[in-house]
Amino acid sequence: MSRRFAHVLITGASSGIGAALAQASAGPGVVLHLGGRDAGRLASVAERCRSLGAAAYPARIDVRDASAMAEWIGGAGRLDLVVANAGVGAGTGHGCESPADARTVFETNLTGALNTVLPAIAVMAAQPPGRDGWRGRVAVVSSLAAFIAAPSAPAYCASKAALQRWAEARDATERRRGIRLHAICPGFVRTPMTARNPFPMPWLMTPEEAAQRILAGLAAGRRRIVFPWPLYALARLAGALPQGLVHRLMEWLPPKPPLHAG
Ligand SMILES: NC(=O)c1ccc[n+]([C@@H]2O[C@H](COP(=O)([O-])OP(=O)(O)OC[C@H]3O[C@@H](n4cnc5c(N)ncnc54)[C@H](OP(=O)(O)O)[C@@H]3O)[C@@H](O)[C@H]2O)c1
Repeated sequence: MSRRFAHVLITGASSGIGAALAQASAGPGVVLHLGGRDAGRLASVAERCRSLGAAAYPARIDVRDASAMAEWIGGAGRLDLVVANAGVGAGTGHGCESPADARTVFETNLTGALNTVLPAIAVMAAQPPGRDGWRGRVAVVSSLAAFIAAPSAPAYCASKAALQRWAEARDATERRRGIRLHAICPGFVRTPMTARNPFPMPWLMTPEEAAQRILAGLAAGRRRIVFPWPLYALARLAGALPQGLVHRLMEWLPPKPPLHAG
C-alpha cells in the first residue's frame, strides 16, 4: 500500500514532527491542511510542501479553541488522514509542576487533541471509503512517556497516557463504521521541544526519520505505532517496576525544565 494519503490535516505542522510529516506526505495530487500558531513558520512549511507538488492550506489556529477547530476541520472537505500532533512539553524544573503548566499541558495535549479528533471522526463518518477501504484514519501523537510516570513531567506523561489509551480503545468501535484510530508513541526526536532537555536522550532521531516511521506504521494499519523498540522495551520495564524504585533511579537525571518561567 502507498504511504501517501490524498487529503491530510495535521495540527502542530509549523515545527518538528508535524512539519516533517507534512513534507513527507506532500506530493502531486495531495491536499494538505496545516495548523499551527506561528504564521511565519507555518507559511514556510506550506511553501516547501507546494514545491513538492502538493496543494497546501495553512491555518493559524489554536487547538484549545474548540469552536474554531470544529469550523476548520468541518470545512476542510474530504479527510483521509488527520494527525492530532500539536503538543507542549513541561517539566517540574527543581520544584513542583506549576498549576499553569499542568493546565496548559492538559488543555493542549489532551483537550486540544479531542478538539481535533472528534470533528475529524464526524467528517469521516459522513464520507465514502477511500482507496485503502477505510473512510479515514485519525492518528494522535502520544509518546513513549505514556508508559512511564516520570516525576519530572507529571502532566506530560499523564496527558500522553490518556491519549494513547483513548485512541487504542476507540479504534475498536470506530473500525465498525470504517474509521481507524492510531496511537503514535515516539521516543526522543530532535525538535525545538527536546532542544531544552538537559539530560541524555538515547536513540535520538531526526523528525524526518520519525515521520517515515509514522507513515509506514499508518500504511501497515498498526493501532500502536511505537519506536524505537529498545526505548519502548525500557519504558515498559520501568512501568512494571515498583514506582518508588523508578523515582529513585530518575532522581539521578537533571529535571525537565518548566513551560512557563516562574
Ligand atoms: N520531540 C520528541 O522527542 C517527542 C517525543 C514524543 C512525542 N512528541 C510529541 O510530538 C508532538 C510534536 O512535538 P515536537 O517535538 O515536534 O515539538 P515542536 O517542534 O515544539 O512542535 C510543537 C507543535 O505544536 C504546536 N502547538 C503547540 N501548542 C499549540 C496550540 N495551543 N495550538 C496549536 N498548535 C500548537 C506548535 O505550533 P506553534 O509553534 O506554531 O505554536 C508546533 O507546531 C507533540 O505532541 C509532542 O508531545 C515529541
